[in-house]
Amino acid sequence: MRKKVIAGNWKMNNDLNGTVSLISDLKKELNGNNVEVEVIICPPFTSLETASTLLKDSTIKLGAQNMYFEENGAFTGEVSISMIKSVGCEYVILGHSERRTIFNESDQVINKKIKTAIKFGLKPIFCIGETLEEREKGITFKVVETQVQNGLKDLSESDLSNLIIAYEPVWAIGTGRNATPQQAQEVHQFIRGLISKLYSSNFARQLVIQYGGSVKADNAKELLSQPDIDGALVGGACLKADSFAKIINAV
Ligand code: PGA
Repeated sequence: MRKKVIAGNWKMNNDLNGTVSLISDLKKELNGNNVEVEVIICPPFTSLETASTLLKDSTIKLGAQNMYFEENGAFTGEVSISMIKSVGCEYVILGHSERRTIFNESDQVINKKIKTAIKFGLKPIFCIGETLEEREKGITFKVVETQVQNGLKDLSESDLSNLIIAYEPVWAIGTGRNATPQQAQEVHQFIRGLISKLYSSNFARQLVIQYGGSVKADNAKELLSQPDIDGALVGGACLKADSFAKIINAV
């Protein structure tokens, strides 16, 4: 059985004060009752150390929203893997569509980042998904396949034991328009089949594939009950403790 994984991507929200209040509200809402679900929060870099301290007595895990692939050096404005590890991160979101579109991250850059994450023992949440134009052209599977093949290039099954894939259709992110459970399930099933072809059916069966894109308390249950949807990557709805907790409780 795959464990359900619910991750909250705070994006560029919450300064330190906001971080302290959101985490304390979330801990109260969950009250330690989330043992059967892996819960992860991904605050901005500036809040990670504070978040890590606040989460010491909690089962909630910490992730970063990005990192650079080089280990250190003259890369002004970038943050390295040892930096995010040293403040308590266990996970890192890589290849988010906002990174791909606004910051021009290519599949090749994302592949390097995934390799760095694996080399240093961080668990990557690898995001993929098609735009509205690509869906309307009927090339969703092709787009997702290319992103998977390029993003995981030169990585073996044993490298990927801690990988999570997040399928996030770009047209559903922050738009209030989620994929229907059937639309999401269809792509998740395709991704699992692809992983089975590229690696093995055993590995594909164990791989956690999250859905992301306008997941909310009122649609989480139906999405998460699909056979190939193993969790959610939540943006907007994770910024309020009660709505994030409702999604977790929907599992
Ligand atoms: P959303 O964002 O839940 O606000 O649509 C999801 C994401 O970007 O990961």
